Amino acid sequence: MAITGIDAVTYGVTNMDKCRRFLADWGLKRLRASETAAAYETLDGSQVIIKPRGDKSLPKAICRGATAREVIWGVSSRAELNRLRRSLAANGVEFTEKAGTLRCTDPAGLGLGFRLSRKRRVKVRGTPMNMVGDRARIDRASTFYDRARPVSLGHAVFNVPALEPAERFYRDVLGFHLSDRYPGDAVFLRCKPEGEHHNLFLLETKDGSASLNHVAFEVRDLHEIFGGGLHIARKGWKTAIGPGRHPISSAYFWYVENPCGGLIEYYSDVDYVTERWKPRDCARTPENFAEWAVAGGIDAATRRQKM
Ligand SMILES: [Fe+2]
Repeated sequence: MAITGIDAVTYGVTNMDKCRRFLADWGLKRLRASETAAAYETLDGSQVIIKPRGDKSLPKAICRGATAREVIWGVSSRAELNRLRRSLAANGVEFTEKAGTLRCTDPAGLGLGFRLSRKRRVKVRGTPMNMVGDRARIDRASTFYDRARPVSLGHAVFNVPALEPAERFYRDVLGFHLSDRYPGDAVFLRCKPEGEHHNLFLLETKDGSASLNHVAFEVRDLHEIFGGGLHIARKGWKTAIGPGRHPISSAYFWYVENPCGGLIEYYSDVDYVTERWKPRDCARTPENFAEWAVAGGIDAATRRQKM
């Protein structure tokens, strides 16, 4: 169905002021801001939109409090958008269409939108690293970031009441591809056959509840994760866990508590897979969540682990 990635995430929030401050500190560029709505973007034009949680224009919430209310997926062409419309109709999924955006809800009740992608190609590069056998940075010191400027919104993670209908919907109706799974517990899905290891990760809750787990932003390299995380700590925001590294997807990460809802993540060096990738069954263990991680983050003043 040629969905290319997440174009936008819209949050319904409890404190607009606090969320505006947070998103600016996170490194997003403000497009517009008022008391009733604000929009931000990454370097490639992925958007974050915030509105007060009682705003009538927001899709229904899947949980209480501040949370993501809608994920808008970008589609590659008008023909692919037409194919997607046909697939929703053929599978009996109720949808609306307005101003070029198809809207429906997923089996967990999360609002979804589909539109021609508005993301831009950006020419940014990570810092070359001097690996054994590949000295890529000659006569040049490495980069230290004083804050992050996220390049793209790469993936979202939701806790869902039932994995099986959710997996069927995203794979069979929307055309997502399986990358890896925790059998019976979770699936890592990507929207394109070739691309980042996952754009969507769904975890079954076992208690029938649904909620936002996190939304993740790709930064240029692992140094930008550290610079970004330290900046966020310096601004007084709370790290959940990070920095660290995931065995599944190989990505480096830093997770922060997001006043807009759930957690928010900086990541880099994620596995890039093609049709040749063989999905793996992995055990849902702490070792598979993190090869290593710093709980609670790093103190921006001492540059040491937070005590
Ligand atoms: Fe993530």
